[in-house]
Amino acid sequence: MFSKAVQDAMNEQIKNELYSAYLYLAMAAHFEAENFAGSARWMRAQAGEEQEHAMKLFDFVNERGGRVVLQAIDAPPVEFGSHLSVFEQTLAHEQLVTGMIDNLYALALKENDYASQGFLQWYIKEQVEEEASATKILGQLKMVDGKAQGLLMLDSVLGRRGG
Ligand code: FEO
Repeated sequence: MFSKAVQDAMNEQIKNELYSAYLYLAMAAHFEAENFAGSARWMRAQAGEEQEHAMKLFDFVNERGGRVVLQAIDAPPVEFGSHLSVFEQTLAHEQLVTGMIDNLYALALKENDYASQGFLQWYIKEQVEEEASATKILGQLKMVDGKAQGLLMLDSVLGRRGG
Protein backbone atom coordinates (compact mmCIF):
# COMPACT_ATOMS: atom_id res chain seq x y z
CA MET A 1 0.00 0.00 0.00
CA PHE A 2 0.94 3.64 -0.46
CA SER A 3 1.58 4.93 3.04
CA LYS A 4 1.41 8.54 4.15
CA ALA A 5 5.12 8.34 5.02
CA VAL A 6 6.08 7.33 1.45
CA GLN A 7 3.69 9.91 -0.03
CA ASP A 8 5.22 12.69 2.10
CA ALA A 9 8.76 11.60 1.20
CA MET A 10 7.89 11.56 -2.52
CA ASN A 11 6.36 15.04 -2.24
CA GLU A 12 9.60 16.16 -0.63
CA GLN A 13 11.55 14.56 -3.48
CA ILE A 14 9.41 16.36 -6.08
CA LYS A 15 10.61 19.58 -4.45
CA ASN A 16 14.21 18.32 -4.40
CA GLU A 17 14.12 17.49 -8.11
CA LEU A 18 12.61 20.89 -8.89
CA TYR A 19 15.32 22.53 -6.80
CA SER A 20 17.86 20.56 -8.87
CA ALA A 21 16.27 22.01 -12.02
CA TYR A 22 16.51 25.47 -10.48
CA LEU A 23 20.15 24.93 -9.49
CA TYR A 24 21.17 23.82 -12.98
CA LEU A 25 19.24 26.68 -14.53
CA ALA A 26 21.21 29.05 -12.28
CA MET A 27 24.41 27.36 -13.50
CA ALA A 28 23.17 27.85 -17.10
CA ALA A 29 22.68 31.55 -16.35
CA HIS A 30 26.21 31.67 -14.87
CA PHE A 31 27.69 30.14 -18.04
CA GLU A 32 25.61 32.43 -20.29
CA ALA A 33 27.03 35.42 -18.42
CA GLU A 34 30.55 34.02 -18.96
CA ASN A 35 29.93 33.47 -22.69
CA PHE A 36 30.22 29.69 -22.47
CA ALA A 37 27.16 28.93 -24.63
CA GLY A 38 27.87 25.18 -24.87
CA SER A 39 28.16 24.71 -21.12
CA ALA A 40 24.99 26.80 -20.66
CA ARG A 41 23.20 24.49 -23.09
CA TRP A 42 24.41 21.42 -21.18
CA MET A 43 23.09 22.89 -17.92
CA ARG A 44 19.79 23.84 -19.54
CA ALA A 45 19.35 20.26 -20.77
CA GLN A 46 20.23 19.04 -17.27
CA ALA A 47 17.57 21.34 -15.78
CA GLY A 48 15.04 19.89 -18.25
CA GLU A 49 15.89 16.35 -17.11
CA GLU A 50 15.40 17.32 -13.49
CA GLN A 51 11.93 18.62 -14.30
CA GLU A 52 11.19 15.25 -15.88
CA HIS A 53 12.43 13.52 -12.70
CA ALA A 54 9.99 15.64 -10.69
CA MET A 55 7.11 14.91 -13.06
CA LYS A 56 7.68 11.14 -12.98
CA LEU A 57 7.24 11.32 -9.21
CA PHE A 58 4.23 13.65 -9.63
CA ASP A 59 2.55 11.10 -11.90
CA PHE A 60 3.44 8.16 -9.67
CA VAL A 61 1.97 9.78 -6.53
CA ASN A 62 -1.25 10.38 -8.46
CA GLU A 63 -1.31 6.86 -9.89
CA ARG A 64 -1.07 5.46 -6.37
CA GLY A 65 -4.10 7.49 -5.30
CA GLY A 66 -1.95 9.92 -3.32
CA ARG A 67 -2.05 13.69 -3.21
CA VAL A 68 0.72 15.83 -4.66
CA VAL A 69 1.50 18.73 -2.33
CA LEU A 70 4.00 21.17 -3.78
CA GLN A 71 6.48 22.81 -1.44
CA ALA A 72 8.48 26.03 -1.50
CA ILE A 73 11.70 25.86 -3.52
CA ASP A 74 14.78 27.66 -2.20
CA ALA A 75 16.60 30.14 -4.40
CA PRO A 76 19.82 28.68 -5.85
CA PRO A 77 23.18 30.50 -5.64
CA VAL A 78 23.99 33.13 -8.26
CA GLU A 79 27.75 32.77 -8.57
CA PHE A 80 29.51 29.41 -8.95
CA GLY A 81 33.14 30.27 -9.65
CA SER A 82 35.35 28.55 -12.21
CA HIS A 83 34.24 25.88 -14.69
CA LEU A 84 35.92 23.30 -12.47
CA SER A 85 34.09 24.59 -9.41
CA VAL A 86 30.70 24.47 -11.19
CA PHE A 87 31.17 20.79 -12.04
CA GLU A 88 32.51 20.01 -8.57
CA GLN A 89 29.26 21.48 -7.24
CA THR A 90 27.30 19.48 -9.83
CA LEU A 91 28.89 16.21 -8.72
CA ALA A 92 28.42 17.07 -5.03
CA HIS A 93 24.76 17.85 -5.69
CA GLU A 94 24.20 14.58 -7.53
CA GLN A 95 25.84 12.66 -4.68
CA LEU A 96 23.43 14.41 -2.31
CA VAL A 97 20.47 13.41 -4.51
CA THR A 98 21.71 9.81 -4.61
CA GLY A 99 21.54 9.79 -0.81
CA MET A 100 17.98 11.15 -0.97
CA ILE A 101 16.89 8.44 -3.41
CA ASP A 102 18.57 5.77 -1.26
CA ASN A 103 16.67 7.05 1.79
CA LEU A 104 13.41 7.01 -0.16
CA TYR A 105 14.06 3.43 -1.25
CA ALA A 106 14.90 2.42 2.33
CA LEU A 107 11.58 3.90 3.44
CA ALA A 108 9.67 2.00 0.73
CA LEU A 109 11.38 -1.19 1.98
CA LYS A 110 10.43 -0.44 5.57
CA GLU A 111 6.83 0.18 4.54
CA ASN A 112 6.66 -3.04 2.46
CA ASP A 113 5.73 -0.86 -0.53
CA TYR A 114 6.81 -3.09 -3.45
CA ALA A 115 5.36 -0.83 -6.17
CA SER A 116 7.40 2.14 -4.93
CA GLN A 117 10.51 -0.04 -4.73
CA GLY A 118 10.05 -1.01 -8.38
CA PHE A 119 9.42 2.59 -9.39
CA LEU A 120 12.46 3.89 -7.52
CA GLN A 121 14.79 1.43 -9.28
CA TRP A 122 14.74 3.80 -12.26
CA TYR A 123 16.05 6.64 -10.06
CA ILE A 124 18.75 4.45 -8.54
CA LYS A 125 20.05 3.65 -12.03
CA GLU A 126 19.67 7.26 -13.16
CA GLN A 127 21.80 8.48 -10.24
CA VAL A 128 24.64 6.17 -11.30
CA GLU A 129 24.55 7.84 -14.74
CA GLU A 130 24.24 11.34 -13.27
CA GLU A 131 27.30 10.90 -11.06
CA ALA A 132 29.28 9.24 -13.87
CA SER A 133 28.61 12.05 -16.33
CA ALA A 134 29.58 14.79 -13.84
CA THR A 135 32.71 12.81 -12.87
CA LYS A 136 33.75 12.45 -16.52
CA ILE A 137 33.40 16.18 -17.23
CA LEU A 138 35.24 16.98 -14.01
CA GLY A 139 38.11 14.72 -15.10
CA GLN A 140 38.30 16.49 -18.45
CA LEU A 141 38.28 19.89 -16.74
CA LYS A 142 41.19 18.80 -14.56
CA MET A 143 43.12 17.89 -17.72
CA VAL A 144 42.32 21.28 -19.26
CA ASP A 145 43.69 22.92 -16.10
CA GLY A 146 41.95 26.27 -16.67
CA LYS A 147 43.59 26.89 -20.08
CA ALA A 148 41.39 28.98 -22.41
CA GLN A 149 41.85 26.82 -25.50
CA GLY A 150 40.92 23.62 -23.70
CA LEU A 151 37.94 25.27 -22.00
CA LEU A 152 36.61 26.52 -25.33
CA MET A 153 36.98 23.06 -26.88
CA LEU A 154 35.21 21.41 -23.96
CA ASP A 155 32.49 24.07 -24.09
CA SER A 156 31.87 23.16 -27.71
CA VAL A 157 31.63 19.45 -26.84
CA LEU A 158 29.21 20.13 -23.96
CA GLY A 159 27.06 22.19 -26.31
CA ARG A 160 26.33 19.08 -28.39
CA ARG A 161 24.19 17.65 -25.61
CA GLY A 162 20.59 17.28 -26.74
CA GLY A 163 17.50 18.09 -24.78
FE1 FEO B 1 17.22 14.15 -10.52
FE2 FEO B 1 20.16 14.84 -11.18
O1 FEO B 1 18.95 13.91 -10.13
